[in-house]
Amino acid sequence: MPDKTWWKNGIVYQIYPRSYQDSNNDGIGDLEGIRRRLDYIAELGVNAVWISPIFPSPMADFGYDIADYCGIEPIFGTIEDFDRLIGEVHARGLKMILDFVPNHTSDQHPWFGESRRSKSNPKRDWYIWRDPKPDGSPPNNWISNFGGSAWSFDDATGQYYYHAFLAEQPDLNWRNPEVREAMHDALRFWLRRGVDGFRVDVIWHLMKDPEMRDNPPDPNYKPGRPEIDSLQQVYSNGHHDIYGVVNGMRRVLEEFDERVLIGEIYLPVERLVTYYGTAELPGAHLPFNFQLIFAPWKPEALAKMIEEYESLLPEGGWPNWVLGNHDQKRIAARIGQDQARVAAMLLLTLRGTPTMYYGDEIGMAYVDIPPEAVQDPWERNEPGLGFNRDPQRTPMQWDSSAHAGFSTATPWLPVSPRYPEQNVEALSSDSGSILNLYRKLVAARRQHQALSIGSFRLLHSEGDLLSYERQHGDQRVVIFLNLGGGEVEAQLPESRTGAVVVSTLGEPREEKLGNSFILRPHEGLIVSE
Ligand code: NOJ
Repeated sequence: MPDKTWWKNGIVYQIYPRSYQDSNNDGIGDLEGIRRRLDYIAELGVNAVWISPIFPSPMADFGYDIADYCGIEPIFGTIEDFDRLIGEVHARGLKMILDFVPNHTSDQHPWFGESRRSKSNPKRDWYIWRDPKPDGSPPNNWISNFGGSAWSFDDATGQYYYHAFLAEQPDLNWRNPEVREAMHDALRFWLRRGVDGFRVDVIWHLMKDPEMRDNPPDPNYKPGRPEIDSLQQVYSNGHHDIYGVVNGMRRVLEEFDERVLIGEIYLPVERLVTYYGTAELPGAHLPFNFQLIFAPWKPEALAKMIEEYESLLPEGGWPNWVLGNHDQKRIAARIGQDQARVAAMLLLTLRGTPTMYYGDEIGMAYVDIPPEAVQDPWERNEPGLGFNRDPQRTPMQWDSSAHAGFSTATPWLPVSPRYPEQNVEALSSDSGSILNLYRKLVAARRQHQALSIGSFRLLHSEGDLLSYERQHGDQRVVIFLNLGGGEVEAQLPESRTGAVVVSTLGEPREEKLGNSFILRPHEGLIVSE
């Protein structure tokens, strides 16, 4: 019996809500805007939308600084807008995943307001407060992910508080049972409203070394890298008590039917897979696998990565793949438009749940952000290192009207100058466009169980060619990816012949293939028997 679990069969589509569709013309996207675009999303064929944080927030980190876990940020709309949106999402047979940001709150969260009031406040221990060293310096050498010390001094009480990100994002103390309870209740609040799962922000950060020892220096650190890289993050996150905390969230989700727990985790793969947990202590259903984002774009490297990941998955652990998100340079900016199409085929034919990032389906690439338009707090703290996250957060390009149909007002980030040609409307009517390629790939994945839930077998990874087979029952599908700009000779296994299901290239090619054939430059093929 094939496993029908929706998050195994499905495709996740990430929306950065500030940039998807503005409905009230303030230049910032909102929930009503997303609602108006649901037909587009449903037509893409994806199964679930994950929306980056929509909760009340001072927006120091654009919603990843939450001031109320059980409300809706007025910029994005109201709780009624949310209920309407989720109702319409479900009416289309789609699922809705929300972002959950448990590691830190906003410094404007009432909990932190109380916590900082006095050392004896009942919420003091909800955050991580420590005395200065005798010389007045921070309690240890931990560095913020956005640069500078991870400790901020609070004059009123003479202690430092810890923040893995901005000073406006104080870390919660997950060792305090009251914190866990309060956060579990926040999860339940949304689960009761019908939310189908959560993507949990920096989940591996939740547990730190109880002794808060100094992190050791990283001998490989090179100036020009972000300051956080100067230390190995040995003690500041990933303490083994984390598995109990993840399991606690999992248990909350299991109070409800069929919900999914996704963990945002940037760790080496052998540590990443530990976040699936164990039979006794189940963890995340899907610890996000970001390896495609960092892998060299070479067949051998990709093959090694896929096989290693497959071999490390624990019993029952379902794989997943992510090509981009709001923190990482877009795929088309990393490998170019031609290969972005090949990458789309790779993402949607690998074994495991794929996560797509809004705009990648129309080939959105790098958008130059002039210094005066920079919004990203990381870029403001550590300018010029090449880590500005704004270029991957620019408004979705819907049509060729002003501001790409995103808003009638000036958007919060510049729209790509390529929008007059690169937009949903224009690309929809071009049968060879990347958008229509995505639609075909998604449809192929839905039509072929071999692609959605079949097994994986590597066939070839030399020169510019990567090929592999997916199989379910007697259905076999072979994927050929030409990662280069020249022609490549390819061959079906075991003297078989086949039929082309999808080519990444717009121009049609022969449907029937002999045992060996030529892949055109930058061509990817899905071939069935
Ligand atoms: C990861 C999020 O994806 C990123 O956008 C955010 O800045 C940090 N976590 C802090 O919440």
